[in-house]
Amino acid sequence: MLLSAVFLALFAPSVWAQSSVTDAYVASESPIAKASMLANIGPSGSKSSGAFSGIVIASPSTENPDYLYTWTRDSALTFQTIIDQFTLGIDTTLRGEIDNYVGAQAIVQQITNPSGDITTGGLGEPKFYVNETAFTGPWGRPQRDGPALRSTALITWANYLLSEDNTSYVTDTLWPIIENDLNYVSSNWNQSTYDLWEEIYSSSFFSTAVQHRALRQGTTLARAIGQTSLASSYGNQADFLLCFLQSYWNPTGYVTANTGGGRSGIDANSVLASIHTFDATAGCDAITFQPCSDVALLNLFTYVNAFRNTYEINSGISTNEAVLTGRYPEDVYMGGNPWYLTTLAVAEQLYDSLIVWNSQGSLDITNISLPFFKQFDSTITAGTYTSSSPEYSTLTAAVKTFSDGFVALVAKYTPSSGGLAEQISRSNGAPVSAVDLTWSYASALTAFDARAGVIPGSWGAQGLSLNCAGGPVAQTVSVTFNVDAPTLEGQNVYLTGAVDALEDWSTDNAILLSSANYPTWSVTVNLPGSTDVQYKYIKKDGSGTVTWESDPNMEITTPANGTFATNDTWR
Ligand code: NOJ
Ligand code: NOJ
Repeated sequence: MLLSAVFLALFAPSVWAQSSVTDAYVASESPIAKASMLANIGPSGSKSSGAFSGIVIASPSTENPDYLYTWTRDSALTFQTIIDQFTLGIDTTLRGEIDNYVGAQAIVQQITNPSGDITTGGLGEPKFYVNETAFTGPWGRPQRDGPALRSTALITWANYLLSEDNTSYVTDTLWPIIENDLNYVSSNWNQSTYDLWEEIYSSSFFSTAVQHRALRQGTTLARAIGQTSLASSYGNQADFLLCFLQSYWNPTGYVTANTGGGRSGIDANSVLASIHTFDATAGCDAITFQPCSDVALLNLFTYVNAFRNTYEINSGISTNEAVLTGRYPEDVYMGGNPWYLTTLAVAEQLYDSLIVWNSQGSLDITNISLPFFKQFDSTITAGTYTSSSPEYSTLTAAVKTFSDGFVALVAKYTPSSGGLAEQISRSNGAPVSAVDLTWSYASALTAFDARAGVIPGSWGAQGLSLNCAGGPVAQTVSVTFNVDAPTLEGQNVYLTGAVDALEDWSTDNAILLSSANYPTWSVTVNLPGSTDVQYKYIKKDGSGTVTWESDPNMEITTPANGTFATNDTWR
């Protein structure tokens, strides 16, 4: 009885079917995904709809949703895929595309936009028109992952060119673009940001993780080309970022995706962070959240399970088999469905894990990752299993089958054309939202490459340790001051207070409030988090006469991160 149960579990037709379905899908979808991704890149992509040279459109869809824009994040992830494929020798035809991307980003960086200009925060702007002009409508801005992802893609390219002795192109053409992005990341990482889903304004794990990677990789490149003082300042900020990264861990078993937002925090944000900061030389390191680290595996387990009962389409699937996953369980955008790219990201994290276990010849199970492994063997215990052990064989085979299952589901819900939209209907599996989403295609290619054992270049995650002396890093909090203050003709209301950001009680430099909602005057200022801040409003008239509010000083305690508002009445 027991033997036949084991026999059935190991050789059940569905297991064989799953891997062969996945093999067949990878073979047929790879060329489609590649061609469809390139079709969305200007100037000559067949669906790029007038996009300028090197500009990646998010999707050719122009309504419901209108994605005919170029997002810095989507474009960088697409070109990371292209640059990896070129530099790893998988596809040596892509060089012209890469040159076009470099040219386009040099232009896009300089576009003045609602987030600012190149020196005042414009690099945080999330998206532009495909003719390289600013989008000025309302949007969740800034999004501070974009410059980090772009610099990482370009640094990967620079490292390759240095290895080919093309130093002058790196120092003259690439470095100025990379330096703009790294300087932005280095000085703005502790400011609030919209998350990668463009919804929550706070701190966000994905953004922090990719910013950390960018500065780490930037440190090494800067040093290699003789920019030693920038190298050391990027390195210092990278140490702070790595400390801050640790704070997102929720000991109940997952990464809290955002410090704001009021959701569970279980989110594809963290799975995407893990695969986009994969560095095989770091093994299963937990502080950089490597794909096979115990924390990342428990996080994946929690994340996947959150979708088992969320979508009708997942009903009837047993609890240790793959399901379709989405951005986060509470999502309602375009119906709140599973996404192709998030489901593929789960597979990719597991393929990355298999790469590392196979190369180190062992697999570690800790008490943290135990629940993940118990889905495959309920009797397994924490310990190190070398590749010669039966546990290693059973578990790695089970993980392979499990990960292929995610790809097999994507295969099941890919229309016969091979086209990948953004989402998959939660009720009937039909494609939903933007058609031909460039990011969906890129995510298929990177998942397939990982399945084939392709190892992306190292970014310097190996051997890092936490160097958090000086205490936890103070986050900056965006604080809105509103004060009800009737004024006389010619008078304006200003804010001054006991910290640098409030001009240290200066009346000359006090911060002017806006009277757009008179008699309420308002201003938003970035202040240090978790800090008691004393302040007062003052009135100044045209001749510079200052009227102070009465004593005592006003005081707020800022939250640790996110945003805060205070509604005061002039006294
Ligand atoms: C459009 C964004 O692209 C999407 O991510 C978001 O969910 C919706 N706006 C709603 O805020
Ligand atoms: C909405 C997604 O939430 C966001 O991450 C993406 O950048 C845009 N769509 C464009 O694909």
